[in-house]
This record gives sequence, structure tokens and C-alpha cells, in this order.
Amino acid sequence: MSRITISVNGQELVGNSHQQLLEQLESAGLMPEYQCRNGVCGACRCKLESGHVNQKDAMAYVAAGEILTCQSVPVSDVSLTFDYQITSVPIAVNE
Ligand code: FES
Repeated sequence: MSRITISVNGQELVGNSHQQLLEQLESAGLMPEYQCRNGVCGACRCKLESGHVNQKDAMAYVAAGEILTCQSVPVSDVSLTFDYQITSVPIAVNE
């Protein structure tokens, strides 16, 4: 388990090399698209611009250079690009 950097649409996050990318993005407060979380639907697809991941076998179609975040664990710093703007979890403000 080591600490890595995950770049998402240009925004850098601190990540790890033992957890699926989808979970790590959610833990960081991002809300990327997903449906099945099981490698079937392809909703969590993104482009792997740089770095390496271990991706489990999956049924969903991915083009060359794409990965499924629900099935992929990073093994190095990675740079990901989604073709949409990922929203963040709203931060509660105490008044
Ligand atoms: S959420 Fe369905 S393939 Fe990842």
C-alpha cells in the first residue's frame, strides 16, 4: 500500500494503491458517474491519460486507453480524464 497522486480532470488528489479508483474518488468528495459498480454497465468509464492500473476482468466495453474506475486499482500515480465535469459533494457550512 503506498500513497499515490490521482489527477482527475486536472485536479490532484491523494490516493492509495489498494482501493478501487471509484471508491477513492468518492472518498475525496467527488461524485463520478456509476451504475453497477461491477464492471458490467460501463458508466464509470474514463480515459487513463498516464500511469498504470490493475483492472479486473469486466464485461463492459472500454476503448483503447480507457478504464473502468469501479474495477481498477492504481499501481502508480495516475491521470484520469472524464468527458464530463465531475460534481463534488456539497460542503456543509455551520452558521
Ligand atoms: S459502474 Fe458499471 S462498469 Fe463501473
